[in-house]
Amino acid sequence: MKLLLVGFGFVGQALAGLLDAQRAALYSDHALSPTLVGVIDARGAAIDPRGLDSAALIEVKRAHGTVGALAGHGFRDLDPLALIGESDADVLVEATPTVGTAAAPALARLKAAFRSGKHVVCVNKGPLAVAFPALLELARHNRVALRYSGTVGGGTPVLALARECARGNRVTAVRAVLNGTTNFILWRMERLGEDFDAALAQAIALGYAERDPSADVDGIDTATKLVILANGVLGRPCAIGDVAIEGIRGVTRERVAEARERGQVIKLIAELSGSPSVAPREVAADSPLNVPANLNALSVTLATGGEITLIGRGAGGPETATAIVRDLIDIWHTMHGSPA
Ligand SMILES: NC(=O)c1ccc[n+]([C@@H]2O[C@H](COP(=O)([O-])OP(=O)(O)OC[C@H]3O[C@@H](n4cnc5c(N)ncnc54)[C@H](OP(=O)(O)O)[C@@H]3O)[C@@H](O)[C@H]2O)c1
Repeated sequence: MKLLLVGFGFVGQALAGLLDAQRAALYSDHALSPTLVGVIDARGAAIDPRGLDSAALIEVKRAHGTVGALAGHGFRDLDPLALIGESDADVLVEATPTVGTAAAPALARLKAAFRSGKHVVCVNKGPLAVAFPALLELARHNRVALRYSGTVGGGTPVLALARECARGNRVTAVRAVLNGTTNFILWRMERLGEDFDAALAQAIALGYAERDPSADVDGIDTATKLVILANGVLGRPCAIGDVAIEGIRGVTRERVAEARERGQVIKLIAELSGSPSVAPREVAADSPLNVPANLNALSVTLATGGEITLIGRGAGGPETATAIVRDLIDIWHTMHGSPA
């Protein structure tokens, strides 16, 4: 299976390493031999139809800042859309940053991949947040797959669990903690009595939050993931504009302490029971949604079968790379009509 990877940061490099580490197991368990035939970053590209060496790519990226410096196979100015169109790769892996709703370049790459008959594995939430139904339609039209496991829950198979639960049953509600940064902040406020600013400063110092944390603390990241969950798993068409969003900036130390006295904790909850919403809400301290630190949790309530909760790490380069590999295995079996 030939792969063209766009984005060679934490996730892209973790994927290159993981493909090497898992090579023997992927072949023996799935008869799958993934080969990186192209890697594109913001400043260049490396191409070799016979396969690029992961270690060499990582080394040249660290030394020169771009895979375009790879001896014999590197290019500094290539048109990525032309490259995607002309490449004989089977799958495009899109792992560039999610830049708010400015998703146009990533969207164009996904469309170029579909038009040239390539499957897509996308961990960038941006294009899905703005054009999910259109992308699914385009993939279907071109008879290729669009997979996006890594967009929600990182390596924790949140979407797979929700999809499995929805099969042959009716999902009556979904409640979830989908953003590790805000969970970490609220957890510190509850555990240590810190105020929002102090907890946020810690999250930034520990690398859990960006220097500009607004997408996390204002609830946008969580809402984007809720949109992916609603469309992709529950078949509920919705866009980010349909989600009522309230972030956690207004949560005070006093409110957290007062909830605690009543046996409650405050979590940033993404909810799909009535209208989709993201807001700080109280949950019982003994609820499975009361996860510590930067964990994620998804609770699905079924018409028959009660509530099922999955808890796990929601981010991290290696974790997200495992989600990409899961999607690749899935596509590989679909390509060959064999059960995964
Ligand atoms: N990290 C996580 O824990 C995690 C978890 C789940 C999902 N994700 C998603 O995965 C994606 C990648 O995350 P990351 O942590 O790997 O980000 P990152 O470390 O910032 O890496 C992003 C990569 O994309 C490249 N890039 C940026 N603009 C580009 C363009 N126009 N064309 C080609 N390449 C471009 C960058 O190139 P340069 O290196 O040249 O700057 C860099 O290699 C994001 O959408 C993120 O939301 C990440």
